[in-house]
Amino acid sequence: LSFTAVVPAAGIGSRMAADIPKQYLSLGGRTVLEQTLARLLDHPAIGRIIVATAEQDPWFEQLAIARHPRILRVTGGRERADSVLNALAHVETDWVLVHDAARPCLHRLDLDAVLAAGQQPQGAVLACRVRDTMKRGDGEGAISTSVSRDELWHALTPQCFATVPLRQVLSDALAAGCVITDEASAMEWAGFHPRLVEGRADNIKITRPEDLGLAGFFLQQMNE
Ligand code: C5P
Repeated sequence: LSFTAVVPAAGIGSRMAADIPKQYLSLGGRTVLEQTLARLLDHPAIGRIIVATAEQDPWFEQLAIARHPRILRVTGGRERADSVLNALAHVETDWVLVHDAARPCLHRLDLDAVLAAGQQPQGAVLACRVRDTMKRGDGEGAISTSVSRDELWHALTPQCFATVPLRQVLSDALAAGCVITDEASAMEWAGFHPRLVEGRADNIKITRPEDLGLAGFFLQQMNE
């Protein structure tokens, strides 16, 4: 068991327009968060899972999974990176993977691939190629330029790194006021070049209302 998993789940999901945060919405008979945790609990190389939830979160303790012996709950922070950093304080393994609570459709082969690629100093992230033509806007509703998609990727999670440098880099980047929307951006800021591990495009982050139906379909396919 060489990995600890960190699962940031302290967001409020404002783009979802729902009464409760997206990680607690129902998906395939369980909550989104339980689906996500099940993918991680299944993997033999992952020991403990540290879930960062909001301080005033009345939902997590109601889940049966909250009492799972391998799951530890910690309090998240203002931004996703604060939540991850709080959780990293409890990680005792040399390697850690960070996976969004809102990505329940993670396939086992993708998890295997990112864990294998991540055990080196640069770390690794699951990613998929951009398929649409990309445009840069001019800020006034028109196209400024087209951006070549040949080298563009969507950064997904899990993202896998050595624990000590990740902790240091995240804390330094936050102190420097960087905008950090994933762990790789903090590592890049510190001069690292994490590996891109090409993964499946159906590893979506539930963000908008229509994503829940899509995730339900992908999960059903996964179980067939
Ligand atoms: O907001 P976004 O979709 O990028 O959130 C990605 C993940 O980070 C979600 O699982 C969300 O719950 C989590 N998050 C967090 N703490 C915050 C904001 C988001 O753990 N302050």
